[in-house]
This record gives sequence, C-alpha cells and structure tokens, in this order.
Amino acid sequence: MKLAARMKAFSTSIFSELSIYIKQKCSEKNDMIDLSIGSPDLPPPPFVMEALSRYASDPKAYGYTLKGTREFHEAVAFYYQTAHHVSLHPETEIMYVIGSQDGLVHLPMAFADPGDIILVPDPGYPAYATGIAMAEAVPYFMPLRKENDFLPNLREIPQEIAEKAVLMFLNFPGNPVPALATEAFFREVVEFAKRYNIIVVSDFAYSELYYDGNKPISFLSIPGAKEVGIELNSLSKSYNMAGCRIGYICGNEEIIRILSKFKSNLDYGIFLPIQQAAIAALTEGASFCEQNRAIYQSRRDCFVDGLASIGWHVDRPKAGMFIWAEIPKGWNSLDFTYALIDRAGVVVTPGHAFGPSGEGYVRIALVEGEDKLLRAVEKLKQSGIFSAK
Ligand SMILES: Cc1ncc(COP(=O)(O)O)c(C=O)c1O
Repeated sequence: MKLAARMKAFSTSIFSELSIYIKQKCSEKNDMIDLSIGSPDLPPPPFVMEALSRYASDPKAYGYTLKGTREFHEAVAFYYQTAHHVSLHPETEIMYVIGSQDGLVHLPMAFADPGDIILVPDPGYPAYATGIAMAEAVPYFMPLRKENDFLPNLREIPQEIAEKAVLMFLNFPGNPVPALATEAFFREVVEFAKRYNIIVVSDFAYSELYYDGNKPISFLSIPGAKEVGIELNSLSKSYNMAGCRIGYICGNEEIIRILSKFKSNLDYGIFLPIQQAAIAALTEGASFCEQNRAIYQSRRDCFVDGLASIGWHVDRPKAGMFIWAEIPKGWNSLDFTYALIDRAGVVVTPGHAFGPSGEGYVRIALVEGEDKLLRAVEKLKQSGIFSAK
C-alpha cells in the first residue's frame, strides 16, 4: 500500500500508546486510575439532556441540517454578550463546528499554503499540529515558559518568521498549560497581528472553567481583535457535552464567510437535537457552569494539597481542567509517566507529547471525583517515588 507522504506527520498518539500499555497492565492489576485524557466525567445539566431527548423524538429532526439554525446562532450571540460583553452578529460572525477540533484541524487548509508558517504555543494542544500537517504548513513554536507566566514572548519571534507567518494559534485557559492571558498580552497580539498581517485563532474551549474568580478574557473583547481574528469555543468542557460534538467559531466576518464556504464542502451540519441541546446550555447554563467550577476547584485543591503532603509540589491551576506538574529532578517525562503507571497505577500524560517545551512536566486531568483523586495520592505515596519534605 502506498501512503501519502503527508502521513509521515501522523504518528500514533501518546494516548493510544498509553492505552495499549494500560490494557496490558490492567490484566495484571485492575485498579488503575486514569488521569490522562481530558474528557469530562460528569453529565451535562438535566435540562440539556431533556432538550436532546425531546427533539430526538421528533421524526422531522433527522434530515441534514446543513448549517447552524438561527436559534443556535442567536444562542451563541447571547452567550458571548452576557458572559464576555462581546457583540456578535448572529448571521455573519458565527458558524457551527463539529466540536472545536473540527475547526482547528481544518482552518489551516483555508488559510495556509504548503510551506507557510503557523505560530503555535509550545507546549500546545496537539490538534494545532494536525491541522498544520494536513495543510503541509510549517509550525513555529512559541515557547510557554514559567518565568513569563506561560505566555508566548512575541518579541522573541524573529522578524523574517513573523513576515512569513499566516496564522497564530493561542489557547487561554490552556491545555496542557492552564495559563490565563492578560489584557496587555492580548493587546500586544492584536498589534503584532496587524503589523504582520497574521490571522489570530484564539482557542477558548475552557472559557467556563476558572477558579477563585479568575475569569478568562475573551480575545474578541480586546479592541481591534475582530479585525484580525476569530475565537473557537465548545460545548464539550463548559457543559460536559464532549460526546455531542458541537462547538462554534466567532469573530471576523470575512474569515467566517470563507470558513463557512469551505465547510459546506466538508459536512452537512449537526444533528438538530444536538443544536437544540446546545441552545439550552448556552442560554440557561450559567448557574450550571458555576456549580461545575466549584466541583473542579474543590478537586483541584484536594489533589494539589494531597500531592504536597507526599512531597510533590505542583502549581495550583487558576483555570482549565489540568494540573501542569513539574516532575521531580532526575526523570524525563516519559520514564516518569511509565513509572507512575508501573509503580502507582496512576496514568498521566507526559509533557513532551505536547511539544518540546513540555519535557520536564506531566499533565494531570482532574477527571475523577475527590475520593478517587485522594486514592491516587495514596497510591503515589505508596509507590515510593516521592519523599515528603
Ligand atoms: C485546548 C482544546 N481545544 C479544543 C479541544 C477540542 O474540543 P472539542 O472538539 O470537543 O470542542 C480540546 C479538547 O480537549 C482542547 O483541549
């Protein structure tokens, strides 16, 4: 079989690799605690599930939808206005995507030619690299360093790179690094994008997961942002609807027009009952989001404090659903991950899987309840890897 040359860019993901290894291990010992994948463990609000099942019983709901319904677009506009004080034109500044993943991986095809440069956070969410590989573009890594509060340093980007760049991906609150953007940083991004004619793609999938009142800023709320960019958002994490596959892109009208045209060639829309469930979530979900944040915040505190009690001191995330944990000296992140599986029965994701600057870290997803997280702490303690100080 002849494979296309571009397939060289696609290797087996670390999650598949870990899952094969875990399967082997589980046949030996069955109480593995998996904190590797960021899929919410909790259900959506009941009124969302009710909307889904109500519309699923309608025999007329089973045709192609082709595009987002007017009500879905209006619900997104309502959410952005009430949650982020951003005005969006429901018809021209919003489009559906089949989960934000769909938007992220297809975007470069519409705006980058082979060889064009795309600026990406390092470490960053792997879908950016997938989209870049599909378009045969070239990534330029913007390192996220602790000493810069995990924000990219735009002044470090060489001028000849900036001149060749066509897109810049940003992700705050981030995955795997749960950093938050500041308004000053976003203003700098707008200026940079205008100077070099770069489209900014803000991935805001974790917009509703934040703690201690540290509300994330929508890129679109920054003056001039709509002239240079778009924001992707998702129902997956905010309302625990990851399996429903629904998200949206909003912002610059011209970019939305081009992407909508491109997408009309790729798929035929999202199942109507799922759009109806999303409308319910976006218009009535504010207090659910608040309760969800309280659950994650409490998990975060219980786990970070638990780790500290056994001598593993990690930063307490201000947002998102992950802990980005520096690993003890003397380990690399892959060996450390396998040691945690072998000796503690706890699965995390090695940081290098998210880019070269992820070495020295592991990502821990807060996707289990507090009892299980405390049990994970106990198992880590018993592994003998850590020594409490
Ligand atoms: C940063 C980030 N963006 C986008 C996505 C994709 O989410 P979805 O396609 O479910 O909207 C994820 C999923 O984990 C993510 O972590």
